[in-house]
Amino acid sequence: MLRYEECDPPLPGAGQLVVSVEAIGVNSIDWQIRSGLDSARASRQLPAVLGIDFAGRVFSVGAGVMTFQVGDRVFGQCEPAEDGSYAEFVRVCSTRVARYPASLGPVQAASLPTMALAAWHALFEFGKLQAGKRILIAGVAGNVGRLAAQFCRRVPNVTVVGVCRASAWTEELHRICPTLIEPENYTIITGSRGRFDLVLNLLGAGFEPIAIAATRRGGRLVTPAPIVDPGHCSARGVLSVSLERRFARQHLETIAHLAARGAINLPPLHIEHLSNAARVHAMAEARHLNGKAVLVTGAIPW
Ligand SMILES: NC(=O)c1ccc[n+]([C@@H]2O[C@H](COP(=O)([O-])OP(=O)(O)OC[C@H]3O[C@@H](n4cnc5c(N)ncnc54)[C@H](OP(=O)(O)O)[C@@H]3O)[C@@H](O)[C@H]2O)c1
Repeated sequence: MLRYEECDPPLPGAGQLVVSVEAIGVNSIDWQIRSGLDSARASRQLPAVLGIDFAGRVFSVGAGVMTFQVGDRVFGQCEPAEDGSYAEFVRVCSTRVARYPASLGPVQAASLPTMALAAWHALFEFGKLQAGKRILIAGVAGNVGRLAAQFCRRVPNVTVVGVCRASAWTEELHRICPTLIEPENYTIITGSRGRFDLVLNLLGAGFEPIAIAATRRGGRLVTPAPIVDPGHCSARGVLSVSLERRFARQHLETIAHLAARGAINLPPLHIEHLSNAARVHAMAEARHLNGKAVLVTGAIPW
């Protein structure tokens, strides 16, 4: 259960900032923590202020912080184990904060950290994507998949194939990823066995056997959660890597600049006031949200 209530604003400790929050990106980990799902429970003691992603202005600066000043336009990620971003003020370590360009806007900025860093790290840190390689993105119509497909353009001659339901094959998605296959189309996905150098499986455990079969011997399979059947991967000569949540200021600032100059398109944004967080969670859990939900602390910008 989520309650909207008053509490005292936090004070920054050494090395910390307090940010006056303008917008909050909603992630599935938020409602998983709230609902006590096993996989998320360990990361938070309840009751808690939920939320990881935020954008706003620096409100106060703790001792020893040299990189930020009051009034700076910032976005970032709270530590999942500490008090979160579903609030008007958030206290956060200054190392988990980055600057974003004014042309982006706080709503767009707040949508980015978790989904964009996941996509970036999946490709470049864990996936080791290199020029000329073939990548399969299973779940390309989702928030992470859509960004991953666009980040692939940074590497020359990469062939990207996306997997998603035909109901998601919009013109925009075809522009992002021209080659799309339905998840049920097992034979086309695995085609000539093991033909992808990198497979990013955002569709969960149910798709894992197909994802393994689609990865070439010596290739990499990147999954957001730990792999279910590591033995199957080893038997096929596939290296499986699970995505860790990592903050990276430099990468986040690069991504924000790409978004600000229109070099990447963000998913559709569903914007609600913070007081409606419970409704947004209910929609997310029922899978009635198309795109990325962002909560705002002030008036909804139209
Ligand atoms: N470890 C990390 O750092 C990290 C960070 C971000 C996300 N994640 C994880 O990465 C995954 C993807 O995140 P996201 O934000 O991109 O999620 P999302 O926006 O909800 O996208 C998921 C996509 O997968 C599709 N999908 C789900 N189940 C499907 C199925 N059985 N068959 C066909 N399509 C299916 C959905 O289609 P429909 O909408 O039609 O169902 C949607 O297009 C999630 O598991 C999330 O928890 C991990």
